[in-house]
Amino acid sequence: MFGLGGDKEVVGLDIGSHAIKTVGLRSKKKEGAEQYEVKKIGYEFLPQDAIVEGTIIDSPAVVETIKMVFDENKISNKNVVISISGNSVIIKKISLPNMETEELAESIIWEAKHNIPYPYEETNVDYSILKPSESTKEKNLDILLVAAKKDKIANYSNVVHQAKKNLKAIEVDVFALQNAFEINYPEIYSGKTVAIINLGSNITNTVIIEKGTPQLFRDLSLGGAYFCENISKDLNVSFDDVEKMLKGIPVEGVPEDQFKNALNLNIQNALGEVEKTFDFYEAGEKSERKIDLILLSGGLSKLSNLPKDFEQKFNTKTEIFNPFRNIYYDEKKFDSMYFEEMPSLFGVATGLATRKVEK
Ligand SMILES: Nc1ncnc2c1ncn2[C@@H]1O[C@H](COP(=O)(O)OP(=O)(O)OP(=O)(O)O)[C@@H](O)[C@H]1O
Ligand SMILES: [Mg+2]
Repeated sequence: MFGLGGDKEVVGLDIGSHAIKTVGLRSKKKEGAEQYEVKKIGYEFLPQDAIVEGTIIDSPAVVETIKMVFDENKISNKNVVISISGNSVIIKKISLPNMETEELAESIIWEAKHNIPYPYEETNVDYSILKPSESTKEKNLDILLVAAKKDKIANYSNVVHQAKKNLKAIEVDVFALQNAFEINYPEIYSGKTVAIINLGSNITNTVIIEKGTPQLFRDLSLGGAYFCENISKDLNVSFDDVEKMLKGIPVEGVPEDQFKNALNLNIQNALGEVEKTFDFYEAGEKSERKIDLILLSGGLSKLSNLPKDFEQKFNTKTEIFNPFRNIYYDEKKFDSMYFEEMPSLFGVATGLATRKVEK
């Protein structure tokens, strides 16, 4: 959204609060369609309190980790696209009558001033025009208005500059996920209603896409870090030990069944939060709306029973999102764990890497 110019191949850099993920893609046209290949991939953990609730607290640690992920994976391309999310990013769908570009820009500023709960001067505003859906009258333009607080943008841009990378654009997590979904699931993207739920550490991004048109975006303050905090208090076990158990590593002295019960409470709570988003979506229109498929991504999607929990709760088919489903990679070049064990962690980074790979 917030493009800073340039049109080169970029590296998608997902600065999550638990780990930094990078993906570099190469693209070429094949039989009219874009074909992607993974050129570079990398993953590096961050110290626990480096980023808290979407704010970078320990910039030096984040800068070092960005440098490390580039160095260790021999990523020489310095052109990056990053993304931001959380409550300092506002996405609103508005509908405006069809008009000339200049007039449109003025109307959008007016809409932004009236729709965004922060002073206009403190935000950067961008927009994109959605392709007309079946339900919109032809005369109207559906527009996605995106506003991000300038201090949030500065907070994230600074670490990229300090890591000596060239920031080419700043995206929003949910748009990156949408891009990754579009290129990897083209038939489903254009034909079904799908909810993508990216369950991270501090933030859970949700987006509902109806036949290629995004209908609802929501970032929930929900994720693995909250799970760990809650369970750590309930069982009187350290955060780090809970985190290990969350990742399936047994910890001596912590009974497995107690952990499972505590984890289940957190999962049920998370399902309840997602339900509110789904209810809001379903109540949004007079015609009946139904989600055909749920795709889970992010660190918590690694919890082995989660797809089943979602299926039971929502009575909707649920799968793990694979951002490399339709992307070629040379198995000899990369550690197989990226594509076999942890693909769902790379949804945002892959979506970011598709942004400007045109040569
Ligand atoms: N097997 C696993 N591998 C990695 N993370 C896991 C695993 N199992 C559970 N998790 C949890 O998932 C979370 C990390 O997910 P993810 O990498 O998607 O978050 P993030 O993008 O770094 O954070 P955010 O976007 O919320 O700032 C952590 O809380 C971690 O404890
Ligand atoms: Mg994330």
